Amino acid sequence: MAKSRTEFLCRECGANHPKWLGKCPDCGAWDSLEKFTVEAEAAKAGAGPIWGAPTEGADADELARSGIGRAIALGSVPEAMVPRIPTGIGEFDRVLGGGIVPGSVLLIGGDPGIGKSTLLMQAAASIAARGGSALYASSEESPQQVRLRAERLEAVVKAGGAAALGERLLVLGETNVARIVEQARRSKPTVVLVDSIQLVHRADVSAAPGSIAQLRRCCLDLVGLAKSTGASVMVVGHVTKEGALAGPKLLEHLVDVVLSFEGDRHSAVRVVRGVKNRFGSTQEIGLFEMRGDGLAEVESVRVPLTGGPAAPGCAFVSTMAGTRCLLGEIHALVATGFLGSAKRRASGLDASRLAMLIAVLEKHGGLRLADQDVFAQSLGGLKIAEPAADLAVALAISGAFLHRALPQGTVAIGEVGLTGELRTVPQIEQRVHESLRRGARVVLVPASARISDSARPQRGECASDAQIVKVGTIARALEFLTPSQRTLAAEPKPSRTATPAADRSPEGTRRAGSGAASGPPIG
Ligand code: TYD
Ligand code: MG
Repeated sequence: MAKSRTEFLCRECGANHPKWLGKCPDCGAWDSLEKFTVEAEAAKAGAGPIWGAPTEGADADELARSGIGRAIALGSVPEAMVPRIPTGIGEFDRVLGGGIVPGSVLLIGGDPGIGKSTLLMQAAASIAARGGSALYASSEESPQQVRLRAERLEAVVKAGGAAALGERLLVLGETNVARIVEQARRSKPTVVLVDSIQLVHRADVSAAPGSIAQLRRCCLDLVGLAKSTGASVMVVGHVTKEGALAGPKLLEHLVDVVLSFEGDRHSAVRVVRGVKNRFGSTQEIGLFEMRGDGLAEVESVRVPLTGGPAAPGCAFVSTMAGTRCLLGEIHALVATGFLGSAKRRASGLDASRLAMLIAVLEKHGGLRLADQDVFAQSLGGLKIAEPAADLAVALAISGAFLHRALPQGTVAIGEVGLTGELRTVPQIEQRVHESLRRGARVVLVPASARISDSARPQRGECASDAQIVKVGTIARALEFLTPSQRTLAAEPKPSRTATPAADRSPEGTRRAGSGAASGPPIG
């Protein structure tokens, strides 16, 4: 009988150790080693490289002849074009860097119910509809359930229905990874989708599905499949309560691309974000909206810049996500708290910057917030961590505190310094351009921002009375807050107004559009 041996595998870095240790010597993580048993056959099979020709038994001459293991100068390595298979889902392709790379392995993680299976099924259907082929291996759902879902999806309906995709979209209800690999080798699909890695297993690894030992072996098998057949493999991974991919720092090391699928359960907006990408940038994000007929691509989070009066505690910002510019909406609430234990909470925003902005507003804006609870959030599931949102957050907080609102259609862009001055931010022209294109009437920018005329949208692309207003300090920016019509009827105006000079003309007002003489809200 084959002898098996016991090994200990680190959950964090995947290092192998012969005995249990409290701390992994490789990565320094505590209590991360997990025991697993390797059968003799599996150990032998797993000894060689995971792809390419097995080197076992080959002697040095043979190796030299085959060219394996010989170092060559970087300059003489032949250039390789990285071909891509576009999935046909624009937002998904953008995050991938133009499409899926053949022979690569992609891991997509996200909360349960966020839409991972839906996204993969749409990608599979879209690839099949474009002439490729896909094998959807589902270990979570039966083929009937997969078909039921597919028939609800617009992507499948567009492709002529599940039947029309015929042999090009295969479904396999299987949890044994060896059989999935075997099926993939036989049917030679363009992409193999495995939903999910936590529920597949290998029979020769004596550990439960989802354990570190199983995850590692199964993932290695799928990596091996991708590298040896050239099929791309997309794998779904579950995330823990804290939002990290379950178990697998290990998996993240093994695969080429790691995407995270995020979103608020209470909002339909979903964001696909690159966490690791060997073939592209991780700066890009893809935006989707969950609809009754599946995930639909959205160009940007919709922001109602016009219609209805502006409310106090509300501000818009133009934020960069990779190469694209998105409009974000920031809301703030200021409520009476206790001096010394006032709460400061940020949702979708940087909490430490919120604390800093409150201090700057106290010191340079004349606001007394020490005994006030301050809550600030970015709406629509958009996470904004960049300093460019400082001005908008500060204006939202001030507006909420003073019961004053920004003029309708105002977008505020700028970093707030500790001295209370406003600083310009990267890609300011693009941000201004995008804000105006999306209907902004007033764009507040730092006085030091350089915006060339050529960067402005053409007439007709933006509101005719749109203007770009330069402000130098946070105190000057607060002058743009005017008593709100919306809440004044219900709430009395507070006596502690810090900057009453709302009618003072702001510095450096410039017109963006060339037409229209109708009175702009300010300036
Ligand atoms: P699913 O892709 O199963 O999530 P995951 O695989 O990440 O667990 O999608 C789950 C949710 O999406 C489900 O609660 C219902 C919703 N949904 C829609 O709103 N519209 C649809 O067309 C589909 C397929 C799902
Ligand atoms: Mg699922």
